[in-house]
This record gives sequence, C-alpha cells and structure tokens, in this order.
Amino acid sequence: MIVQNGTCYTLHTAHTSYQLAAGPGGMLLHTYYGPRLPDGAPNLADSRPPHGDPGCWTDLLPKEFSAPGTADNRTAPCLPEYADGSEAADLLFVSARMQKGKPALPGLPMFRDGDGVETLCVTLRDEFGLEVELRYTVYEAEELITRSAVYKNAGEKPLTLHKAASLCLDFAPGCYDLITLNGTWAAERTPERAPLRCGVQSVGSARGVPGHAHNPAAILCAPDATETAGECWGFAFVYSGNFLIEAERCDAGERLVIGIHPYHFHWTLAPGESFAAPEAAMVYADGGLGQMSRRFHNAIRTRLLPPRWQDMQAPRPVLLNSWEAFYFDFDEERLVQLAAAAQKAGIDLFVLDDGWFKGRSDTSSSLGDWAEDEAKLPDGLPGLCRRVGELGLDLGLWVEPEAVSPDSDLYRAHPDWAFAVPGRRPLEIRRQYTLDFSRPEVVDAVWQQLERVLRSCPIRYLKWDMNRSLADVYSAALPAARQGEVYHRYVLGVYELQRRVTETFPDLLLENCAGGGARFDCGMLYYSPQIWCSDNTDARARLLIQYGTSLIYPGCVMGAHYSAVPNHCTGHLSTMEARMAAALFGTFGFELDLTGYSEEELAALRPYVAWYKAHGGLVRGGELYRLANPDVSALGAAWMVAAPDGSEAAVFAVGDALGGAHGPASLNSLPRLPLRGLDAAALYADEAGERYTGAQLMAAGLPLPGARGQTPACIWYLRRVDAHMDE
Ligand code: GLA
Repeated sequence: MIVQNGTCYTLHTAHTSYQLAAGPGGMLLHTYYGPRLPDGAPNLADSRPPHGDPGCWTDLLPKEFSAPGTADNRTAPCLPEYADGSEAADLLFVSARMQKGKPALPGLPMFRDGDGVETLCVTLRDEFGLEVELRYTVYEAEELITRSAVYKNAGEKPLTLHKAASLCLDFAPGCYDLITLNGTWAAERTPERAPLRCGVQSVGSARGVPGHAHNPAAILCAPDATETAGECWGFAFVYSGNFLIEAERCDAGERLVIGIHPYHFHWTLAPGESFAAPEAAMVYADGGLGQMSRRFHNAIRTRLLPPRWQDMQAPRPVLLNSWEAFYFDFDEERLVQLAAAAQKAGIDLFVLDDGWFKGRSDTSSSLGDWAEDEAKLPDGLPGLCRRVGELGLDLGLWVEPEAVSPDSDLYRAHPDWAFAVPGRRPLEIRRQYTLDFSRPEVVDAVWQQLERVLRSCPIRYLKWDMNRSLADVYSAALPAARQGEVYHRYVLGVYELQRRVTETFPDLLLENCAGGGARFDCGMLYYSPQIWCSDNTDARARLLIQYGTSLIYPGCVMGAHYSAVPNHCTGHLSTMEARMAAALFGTFGFELDLTGYSEEELAALRPYVAWYKAHGGLVRGGELYRLANPDVSALGAAWMVAAPDGSEAAVFAVGDALGGAHGPASLNSLPRLPLRGLDAAALYADEAGERYTGAQLMAAGLPLPGARGQTPACIWYLRRVDAHMDE
C-alpha cells in the first residue's frame, strides 16, 4: 500500500514501511525504512538543520537520491556531465504519481508485475536538464520493495551519464555490519561480515558478468543481528553484468549505492532521450538474517522466476549431467550406456554437456558452430534423443552462446563479431573470445543456430554457459563516443537471446551457468529458474557455497549435483549421505560416471531419487531455517525446510553438526539439534515412526546419532500427525 500525505509518501508492505518526503526547497529526503508504521503515522521528515549554516547541513541530511557538485559530497548514485563540461546537478522534487502495477524497464528483467503490485514514480529535476524518475514498486505480501531509476535529458543540449545507479539509500547514523558474498572459482559466494568502517567499502565487477569474486547482493544489519533476531536490510541487484555496490560511512550517517559499475560506462543522451537503469530489490526484516532470507526466497520464487516454473509442487526432473562423467571423451554408445545406468537409478533427464558439436574435443575449438559432431553423434541429436527416449529419459543440452573459438567457422566468417580493440591482439581466455552481443545481427545469427538445434528434436533442458570474463570490450559497430554503452548493450543482448529462447520454447527448462557460479543473480533468474551454483561439487565445499548463496537466493534455484569421490575438484572424500544432503539443498541431480556401477550400487541411489520425488515440493517451496552454519564450523552444517503451515519438514545435518567427534567432550555428550519453524502444539513423526512434539523438537531438539567418519550426514523427514496436541 502506498499512502500519500502532502509530499510525504509511505510505502507499506505487510510488516515493513519505507518513507520519503520532499523537504525544504524540494530536497527529497529519505525518512524511514523499518518495521511497519501504524496507518496514519505522521510524516517522519525531519529536515531540521543540525546547526546554523545551510550550506553545510544539506550535505548531512538523509537524501533519497543525489548528484554531486552542489551540496551533497557523499558517494553519488549519478554522475552527469553537461555539454558545457560542468558536472554539478541539484536534483529537486518536481512531482510524484502512483499507479497500479509497474512500468516495464525496456529490455531488462525485473520482479514481475501482477496482482497487488503498486508503484510510486517520483520525478526529480536539475535546472540544467537532467531528470531522474525514481520508481518504487511495493509487493505487500512478499515484504519486497523494488527500485529503479530512469534518467532523462529534459534539457536542450546533449548530456552524458558517467554513472547511473539504481538505488541510493541513506541510513540514520548508527553502527551496521556489512555482509557481502565473495569468493573465487569453485568457492563462490562465501559470506563475509564486518562492521562498516568510516569511508567507502565496495564490491563490484568490471568483468562483464558479476563474476566469481563478488555477488551483486549485500546486507546491512545491526551488529548484534543473528540468524534469529535483529534488524537486517537485504539488497539484490537484478542485473547480470558489471555492477558496483558501495557502502559509505561518513559524518552524516551511512549510505548504500547500487548500480551498474561506472568503469567504461558513459551514455550520452540527446535532448529527450532516456536511460533506464536496472532494478534493485530490497527487503527489511527485524527477525534476523533467517527471516530476511526467507522473505527474499519467497519473493524470488513467486515474483521473479519464470511463471512456468513458479509452482514449486510441480515435479522437476532429476537430471544426470555428462560433464564430470566423461568431460570431452564420449561417443553416442558411451552416452547411451550412461543414460541406461541413469535410468536404473531412477533419473529422468540426461544432459549432454560440452563437446557435442562440430570438431569439439577439447577447449581449443568450435564454440560458435552449433551443429552436431558427426564423428561422435552419427545420427545427430535426433538419433541420440531417440535412443535416450527409448530408455524413458528426456534429453538436455549444453551451449555457450556468447562464446566463439578462434578456430571455428563462425569466427573465420565474421572475425569482427568478436570483441577486439582495433590494433590490439584480443585476449584469449579458456582459448575463446566473446561475441559482441551489443550487435543485434550477432544475437540474430546465434539465435538462428540455437533455434535450429532446439527444433531438431525434443530438447527439454538447456544449460547456458558463459566461461570467461569479458576483455577487449569494443564494438566494431559503434563510434568512439559510444563505446561506453557496449558493456550494458552486451547484457541487453544476452537478455534478448534468453527471452527468445524461453518465449519460443516455453516448456524448456533453462539453467544458467558461468564457469560454475559467476553469473548467479536475479537478472538470470528472470529467465531461468535455476543456475549452476559452482563447479565445485564437493559436499563440504558446496555446503559453504550454498549457505552463502542462501542468504539471498532460495535453494530451488541452486543447481546442485551428487558427484564422485574423491571429488574431481578438491580430492576430498565424503559419505554418500553427505553428498546427497548437499545436492538435496538445491535442484538435485547427478554428475558422475555411473557406467561402472553394479546393479546394487545403482539400486542404492534409487531411494534418494524417490525421496526427492516425494518431498521435492517441500524442499523447493518450503521455508529455509539455517540451524548450524558452515562458516562457523567448516566441518559441518545443518539446515531444515519447513512447510509454511508447519505440516511437514525436512532436516539435514552434515559433519560436526551431527555432534561430531572432535574432542572427548563431544564424544561424551548426547547431541541434539534444535529445530525451527514447526507447529509447537503439534505432534510429528519421523520416517522411522518416532514421535515428538513440535515444542520438544524446537526447544530440546532432534536427537542426533553422533555419527563419525568422513563427513557423516543425516536426512530426516518429519510429518505432522496431530495438529492439536493442546486441545
Ligand atoms: C563450465 C561449466 C561446467 C561445464 C564446463 C564445460 O566450466 O561450469 O559445468 O559445463 O564449462 O566446458
């Protein structure tokens, strides 16, 4: 609900409120973001000068959005340059309007329009011509507010934007911790939490994709915030390219700015032209990080994912991916043997990863030539699809549409379609270049190839990979003055192709991937309901990656596979139960060579597949409670997923979280795992028929077996058998 009181606007979700108000002289002040204010609460705008000199205090007030060069010297969300070379702007309130639904951001993904959605659009203008429309969309039930900014040149001469961020949020002076999700290849999204220090702290990417090192999401929270208590403000950028998240602590308080990275960004607007910055999403929770995450999870599941995949109770295929099974070393016979073994394990979908196309037997060639390698697939994809189908499995396929190998027919025909700075030898990474997706004709050409492949036989799943950072970003199709548009236009090209793929093949299950999890963001989730989390499938490493990921993103979007031991990435050993538990955190699939498995070994996999088929709806759609976090103990983790009505729950504990065997004290104790999210008054039964009250399970905890060995694990399923213990 949006309530207007003069020029004060209060945005209410079910339990949170956000408020902004035009203050003296048209300054747009940020006045509140926290627990829901009572209806009819007075305007909280407080523009009292902290001391006498107005030239000083405008720099100290909490602003909703600002530009530098007049009185606000904090980190600026936008940097305009006018035709006369001046870079100052004073953005003042002009007008506001409210509407049902939300306006589109052309070419950009965003949390979806739908029932109960309302938007406030506020126009700010600088007298020299820059106009910014700030958009706030309220998702009341989901506790979500999304923001974006549309920049317009309302002047008479061109103006150039050197920075055009999406969100600026000032906090009242206080102490906050900043949490960001960082890492590297095979160790993505490890949470790091530290008090916000004086000055600016930032994470970002100038790699063309968000990258392995930092995720486009951040959390500010009270220093005493825990999983179960305390104030948290969570932010996710709905964008899949260069980004910058800046958190500043200065004499005036704290400020957070989220937007496209200003590196190599400059966008000139002719009079009348606009630039739409991507959306950023915000969630406030006063019940700790757990509650903040659950709010984000619910909003992502119900308002961001493609509608076709929003029903969490609808079955999802259990897949087997060929990559860690065979890498490049396969032919049709081997693939069919693998599919036959997968069928015996109860798997539904066989995914053929890299190496299926013309001449591709290692990373040195063929990207860009999306046609079957006849040496490996004599009857092409239709032949393989038929044989896999005879086994009762569907077929899925890997592609890397943005890539081109120097050794490919596509590159030989169109060398200018790859990014290259004139006169500079382009950098090969993983022996490949990147196609200039800022050019519509390049996107069209790749689309024609993909469409042919996807129409050639019933392909039910597509893994869209992207295996390198961008470099040499320069478009042969744009003049020098417009090269600053290329990074963003590239991302728009990626979105356009994903739009075509998903709209033309609405039942295709699209999974994004970027060398593991280098493009794990809300932009991708608009097109694909799942993203490959990391190339590291080791159970222990995965639990840390998935724990960090879960701070913002729900388990149902995390591509997670059971794989071989020793793990191909880390060499670690872990039990079958631990590897299953890690895969069941996410989308649940397999990625290993099953062709050498005996009938008994294949049969041993079946109960897990059956468990997922029985309880997958709960795991995908339930509320996540993190019970023991692996960043505290690198040797263990526990989490549970409870149905929102408390009728059932799945509980997972791995390693030390089972009560572990590290030291005599723990050997002598009787470990228990206190649960959350259950119905205290109800009686629950586990799969062995053991009964507990919800209150017992939450206060005293679930008794643990105190298992030992190489990363032991336990998985429980609890069902409410009597909801009225107290009646
Ligand atoms: C990337 C992906 C892997 C696999 C390979 C294939 O590394 O993350 O899962 O698809 O590419 O080359």
